[in-house]
Amino acid sequence: MSKKRILTGDRPTGRLHLGHYVGTLENRVRLQDEYECFFIIADFHVLTTRTENLREIGENVRQLVLDYLSVGIDPQKSTVYLQSLVPEVTELCLLFSMLISVPRLQRVPTLKDVMRDLKLETASSGLLIYPVLQAADILMVRSHLVPVGKDQASHVEVTREIARRFNTLYSPVFSEPEAMIGRVPTLMGTDGKKMGKSLGNAVFLSDDAETVSRKIAGMFTDPTKIRLTDAGHPRTCPVYSYHRAFNKRSGAGSEIRRTCMAGERGCVQCKKELAIVINEFLDPIRERRATYEKRPELVNEIVLSGSRRARSEAQQTLQLAKEAMGLTYFRGEG
Ligand code: TRP
Repeated sequence: MSKKRILTGDRPTGRLHLGHYVGTLENRVRLQDEYECFFIIADFHVLTTRTENLREIGENVRQLVLDYLSVGIDPQKSTVYLQSLVPEVTELCLLFSMLISVPRLQRVPTLKDVMRDLKLETASSGLLIYPVLQAADILMVRSHLVPVGKDQASHVEVTREIARRFNTLYSPVFSEPEAMIGRVPTLMGTDGKKMGKSLGNAVFLSDDAETVSRKIAGMFTDPTKIRLTDAGHPRTCPVYSYHRAFNKRSGAGSEIRRTCMAGERGCVQCKKELAIVINEFLDPIRERRATYEKRPELVNEIVLSGSRRARSEAQQTLQLAKEAMGLTYFRGEG
């Protein structure tokens, strides 16, 4: 029996950080053998909120591929591809856009979030159909599982609705894919607030050791713990949450929690230990990144061949969809 499929990916808008790692990247790496994986670099999706300075996207694409390869996404096993090199996705998106209502899309929570964050008064029609394009990405390779951060769950829900609607209206071409959320659904930023690529509160996978140590030394901790001997509240402390997510030493979490609450450990020590943990975690990632950085032509070829592979899949799916809909009017087309 052939393997089930995964499709997931990211917009090329900047470097990936530790939150992406625990939210989705580690699932992707872990599931590469069990599933046939497609990882999309969704450059069309960037256009939903950006109409200028588009030339910068290219460099972001390159950095994103390096992020993928550096965490251990293996191009021998998985397909890494660029959305715009698979133009069939736009055709499927158009067909899908007929199967979902405008009010339904207006209720997708990420739309309001993006409009608030970017201070947009109105959404372009492209931004409104963002989840429809994402559904086309996912269903284009007839994916079963979508490992994503928690914020993307509502888009996978739209995808399921579109698949269901298509299947009942025409014929069962698509399976209803499931979202898979990571083991740490929301890692907070170094300031204890929501982590963001461009909020100055993220530790990036490509940060060097010194940058990591500096960022961690500046992290927020429990504000009520002023002296080492004060009883701390690990439950609300960003530094503790990072220890929980990344400190693999057995018993470390409970020991840190106990000594913090008992006033037996200070925040400075806690941060120093965390910096060591994170840097040890990032070292192999940095090494792989450096290897690929030296071979830009290889990185190029990985994306081009991945995109050819994804495109052939896309052409087949599109043909199936059109046949199911009765849109194939001439023999020999497609
Ligand atoms: N919307 C996703 C994000 O911002 C990126 C994305 C585009 C995606 N197409 C996808 C994720 C398909 C999963 C599946 O992170």
